[in-house]
Amino acid sequence: MRMYDIILKKRRGFELSPEEIDFFVQGYTKGEIPDYQASAFCMAVCYSGMTSAETSALTMSMARSGDMIDLSGFGDLTVDKHSTGGVGDKTSLIICPIVASLGAKVAKMSGRGLGHTGGTVDKLESIPGYKTSMAMADFMKQVETVGLALIGQTGNLAPADKKLYALRDVTATVDAIPLITSSIMSKKIAAGSKNIVLDVKTGSGAFMKTLEDSTTLAENMVCIGKACGRNMTAVITDMDTPLGYNIGNSLEVIEAVRILRGEQQDDLYEVCVVLATEMAALVLGIDANDAKALVLDSISSGKAYEKMLEWVAAQGGDTSVIKDTELFRKSKHSLEIKATESGYIGSMNAEEIGKAACLLGAGRVTKEDVIDPAAGLILGKKKGDKVSVGDTLATLLSDDENSFEAAKNIFLGAITFSETKPEMPPLVAKIVR
Ligand code: URA
Repeated sequence: MRMYDIILKKRRGFELSPEEIDFFVQGYTKGEIPDYQASAFCMAVCYSGMTSAETSALTMSMARSGDMIDLSGFGDLTVDKHSTGGVGDKTSLIICPIVASLGAKVAKMSGRGLGHTGGTVDKLESIPGYKTSMAMADFMKQVETVGLALIGQTGNLAPADKKLYALRDVTATVDAIPLITSSIMSKKIAAGSKNIVLDVKTGSGAFMKTLEDSTTLAENMVCIGKACGRNMTAVITDMDTPLGYNIGNSLEVIEAVRILRGEQQDDLYEVCVVLATEMAALVLGIDANDAKALVLDSISSGKAYEKMLEWVAAQGGDTSVIKDTELFRKSKHSLEIKATESGYIGSMNAEEIGKAACLLGAGRVTKEDVIDPAAGLILGKKKGDKVSVGDTLATLLSDDENSFEAAKNIFLGAITFSETKPEMPPLVAKIVR
């Protein structure tokens, strides 16, 4: 077999066999196929697409390129969730303790943020002492005793994806649906959970900007997960506006704590209830109405909050900052952006707001950048809110006062005002089962 022939066949629009796809994936992972041929292959997929049989074969080859975690000892109780990435998306911090409090076993590996979206691991590292890596035996033990362990992705989980994703990032081949599908699903299949809920974001802050593309991605991922013997649900949620009010690492942990204590009931709360409901329904084999009642009870009774404390303590985190979030280290400087006109917030470009937070120190532009855990921004108003002159639109937080000017300009460029209340997209556009 020659890589040249595989690229040509794909470029001409023919269907590749599972053997040809596996030749590419294993060869590229081992370094036997060079970057330039892998880039040409990805570009050919961008133009010619892939059939569902090809996407399944690509997913399975990528999943098998490294360790496959065996969670079968937990029976059918294991559940994982994945978000395609958004701004202010701290749902994992909230829904994992909720479902663990209901008896699910959550063995979760999460990524770091790059670009305008934040990563769960970076958010958790803002909790002093929280360990985002541990030996596999300790990870399994914690899943058994606490019901929840959340660490960074181990080096050898789907290494083909790690290499390919870095290549796609610099060759303008990220947003091809078969490549996104196989990237996400290879990691989820290798991570071993029986039940998987996907949060597919749609809108200005998401990879998929239209509902049509988000639906295709969701359907592809659900189909592949099922073909691999997993119970799957995908929830398509709005990412036209940032989720919740806080964007930045410790700021997002603080907001997650508020939701778990029942102190905040907004768009973030609603999305979390839907995602946790779908996870509980799959794990417990019950219908969505019964699962929702359990989820609401877990929050209102304090069980979910207690589970968060137990989980953070088990991973070495200092729970005093969870019990009293005022104890989180604060940024040295802050700047309030005031409204100079009145009306309604007509739109909020989530991606641009994510970029402003990044500039303040909350995210990375390159992998080597160091994150400032306290930096970010707190929204004072969101899309659809009425605004009067002088109202606080957002508060910027950073140790670097020099970043304020540019971040403020990006923020102001990301919002528009309107005289009338804008139409609000549904928070949950669709559920694909
Ligand atoms: N998230 C992933 O893990 N992979 C992609 O290709 C896109 C989003």
